[in-house]
Amino acid sequence: MRATVQAFFHPPSSTISYVVYDRPGGAAAIVDSVLDFDGASGRLGTASADALAGFVAEQGLTVAWILETHIHADHLSAAHRLQDRLGGRIGIGARVAEVQTHFGKVFNAPLGPRRNGACFDRLFEDGEAFTVGDLDGEALHTPGHTPDSVSYRIGDALFVGDTLFMPDGGTARCDFPGGDARQMYCSLRRLLALPEETRVFVCHDYAPGGRSHAWETTVGEQRRANIHVRDGVDVESYVAMRAARDRTLSMPALIIPAVQVNVAAGRLPAPEANGAVYLKMPVNVL
Ligand SMILES: [Fe+2]
Repeated sequence: MRATVQAFFHPPSSTISYVVYDRPGGAAAIVDSVLDFDGASGRLGTASADALAGFVAEQGLTVAWILETHIHADHLSAAHRLQDRLGGRIGIGARVAEVQTHFGKVFNAPLGPRRNGACFDRLFEDGEAFTVGDLDGEALHTPGHTPDSVSYRIGDALFVGDTLFMPDGGTARCDFPGGDARQMYCSLRRLLALPEETRVFVCHDYAPGGRSHAWETTVGEQRRANIHVRDGVDVESYVAMRAARDRTLSMPALIIPAVQVNVAAGRLPAPEANGAVYLKMPVNVL
């Protein structure tokens, strides 16, 4: 069944969030929402989340799911805030606990929900089914960029998170903790084995070559034209390309605030005695 998909582009992080739904007045899933954050001032903003919530209200949708494709390192998630406003269950891949454990150690976070997956309502195992109203959904574990990465197929639409970019953008980096280019290649081949007409929606687009931003493509188009993983590229060439390219990439500007908030589905740490909320900055750790 054809899903209706509305995209929302977030210029500061080049993230695309989605509302996917069966019909106006029906059920929806929100994929990879963004909570605005200015790293220099430490100020949060809700303009991006407000736009998603406004669309949901305008279309009369009931939010069934708020889905994360992985723990993002480049932007903060609005999942928790949107759940407060709109309801729905927050879902992520079951291997999120590995990412939480890693960053739990980095930030010396206490054991508990930020370390054991309990901040999320549903931890999807590979191949697990779910529904969005009349649309059938399936979570596909696609590790490589991060160990917890999942892609969600909802109806005929596939939300690939940070595995594939648009064909001229290639694929995402594999040098974050728990990332693995060889696993990524397997994940990519798995996605590219889906029916050619499957619509693919990417989580980031950096508009290479100065073209306009774009986020929708198909499995067939990726197989023909993806600069990193089109048909005919073997695993060894892919891994070598990824290793060389990843060495040139710097840390995302917001990785330190983002991972602290995103391991808890977008929740901030509890306020301190003076009522203010603080995030940590590890020195010489990352
Ligand atoms: Fe990512």
